[in-house]
Amino acid sequence: MKIYSSNLWTILAFALVVFSCTDPAEVTPELEDKKDDKDQAEVAIPLRELFKDYFLIGAAVTPQQTDLGTAHGQALKTHYASLTAENVMKPDALQRVKGQFTWDNADRIVQFAKNNNMKVRGHTLTWHSQSPDWMFYDENGDLHTPEVAMKQLEEHITTVVSRYKGDVYAWDVVNEAMFDWDPNGQIIYREDSPWYKIMGPAYIDSAFVYARRADPDAKLFYNDYNSIFSWKRNKIYDLVKRLKDNGIPIDGIGLQGHWSVNTTESDLRTTLNLFRELGVELHITELDIPVYASNDEPGSTEYNSTFSFRQKVAYSMIFNVLLDYSDIITNVTFWGIGDDHTWLDKPGRKAFPFLLDEELKPKPVYFEVQKLVQKR
Ligand code: GLA
Repeated sequence: MKIYSSNLWTILAFALVVFSCTDPAEVTPELEDKKDDKDQAEVAIPLRELFKDYFLIGAAVTPQQTDLGTAHGQALKTHYASLTAENVMKPDALQRVKGQFTWDNADRIVQFAKNNNMKVRGHTLTWHSQSPDWMFYDENGDLHTPEVAMKQLEEHITTVVSRYKGDVYAWDVVNEAMFDWDPNGQIIYREDSPWYKIMGPAYIDSAFVYARRADPDAKLFYNDYNSIFSWKRNKIYDLVKRLKDNGIPIDGIGLQGHWSVNTTESDLRTTLNLFRELGVELHITELDIPVYASNDEPGSTEYNSTFSFRQKVAYSMIFNVLLDYSDIITNVTFWGIGDDHTWLDKPGRKAFPFLLDEELKPKPVYFEVQKLVQKR
């Protein structure tokens, strides 16, 4: 989970308590269990089939998972129409040493996607994190001049985007450039980013220009987290509006979708309505919903009926909303394949954030989502 203030958690936890006392809270754990058994007897429609009239459904992957001889490879082929590299297309993976590009891992994912009729989202070209130090600092440890840093950015983007021209259909050109927590809206950009320290927000504009030049057909996205909260969505709106007004090539906004069981329908709809005004495409780029109602809730390594119930409520609400906006949402990508592998797991505290379980089999929440799509 990303940075949330403790106040926010208190409000959200309260909202969950109120909600669960007023709705089918009558559902006892025992009843839930039985219902889950019944649901699991149903036949799962592969996700890519289930959502084919609405948006591409995707997953973030490691190169090792893109192998049809493994359960992961089979699950990918069955369920997903779009792949994102979880790590191996980030700047520190592709160009750890200046001028030396390492393509093997990224190539493997791209080739697997091509072989299995999937699209690839490229992630990510410009980021303050998981980027090599040489991009920002000289041999004395001082920040580069704007000229040097800009030239290096141009070379990185041009080389990477050109290599995957025609294979990567959408790029997260800039990741997480806006300041995260600032209720008064005074601080707009993430000022601790070395990119920002070197040249202010100018790198954002340039990154989009370089990417468009290298592949005019690729869709170019600005990607961020916490984008459904008022303090951040307005900044993202202003950024994208400014870029568009200045003729900077941007096609869409990626909402990372590291949401929670407390995510509210009103935050989602307000954000989607606001972004709709920009006339851009939207991708949900990193969807995962951990089972916990707060950071303070004790961790568990067993998936239980309370977790299942929470996820059914949350994922049903979320997919209902996403389907309502499928004219502008064109890709929904989970940040993983199934519950066996997720960045959210901690020792003694598993997050179980997906629709597929640790064996990559559909969970009860999967069937809940399937039912709501079928009802449309
Ligand atoms: C961010 C990044 C992703 C990934 C996740 C969590 O959301 O965009 O690449 O690193 O954090 O791991």
